[in-house]
Amino acid sequence: MLDSPDDQEFHALKAALDWQVEMGATDAISDAPIDRYAAPPPPPKPQPAAAPAGRMPPAPGPDPVAEARAAAEAATTLDALRAAMAAYDHCELKRGARQLVFADGNPSARVMIVGEAPGREEDRAGRPFVGQAGQLLDRMLAAINLARTSEDPAGAVYITNVLPWRPPENRDPSPEEIAMLKPFLERHVALVNPELLVVMGNHACMALLGKRGITRLRGQWDEALGRPALPMFHPAYLLRSPHEKRATWADLLALQARLRQS
Ligand code: URA
Repeated sequence: MLDSPDDQEFHALKAALDWQVEMGATDAISDAPIDRYAAPPPPPKPQPAAAPAGRMPPAPGPDPVAEARAAAEAATTLDALRAAMAAYDHCELKRGARQLVFADGNPSARVMIVGEAPGREEDRAGRPFVGQAGQLLDRMLAAINLARTSEDPAGAVYITNVLPWRPPENRDPSPEEIAMLKPFLERHVALVNPELLVVMGNHACMALLGKRGITRLRGQWDEALGRPALPMFHPAYLLRSPHEKRATWADLLALQARLRQS
């Protein structure tokens, strides 16, 4: 006699159970099988901690450029600007330098010269352009009757650098360092208020004109911070490339002619 459908189902289920017992299953735990070899689900992603009620999340660190701008704008005299720069702590160069190199010359001068950064001699003396390049600069200026020691504003110059601290091993200033310290330079120029700027070398051109390529720029009157600006070869470059002194002589005459015009 044939089994009823119920009997058939019973035998099929019994056979499946026997097979599982034969495979080692000892306990019936759940209705659905569990694959214990499957990869575990990924851990939940960490969520940013919620700020306690009523408090803002922690602010990011200080912005060195914004801090420099605030400190520079608060300075209303050259002495205050020097003090603000000496107190500014966000530039690593300060830690490697002996001292701040602020400026030299006559703050009433019609001409303000902007160089790159102090070298070893300047770092020792605390004054810009006192090494070999500085001595050449003094001779160049003397050739058109200008001197940093002149008490007469008409014959005087005032000298500073883009960076007030010596970079290690006299390496080039980085764009970040220039950007960080530029608010101080801008304020420096505003407080001295010269008629003309002389911008010496590629790094000073980059900082003040936003351009590089001194061979092309030199001798061409430009504008920086709202004033006429004359890019010139840096005297350190002239020491290495004396054949460029002829071009620099032409630039010095252009500066002299402009001073005579006004
Ligand atoms: N070169 C500069 O650009 N500045 C100095 O003060 C000395 C050398």
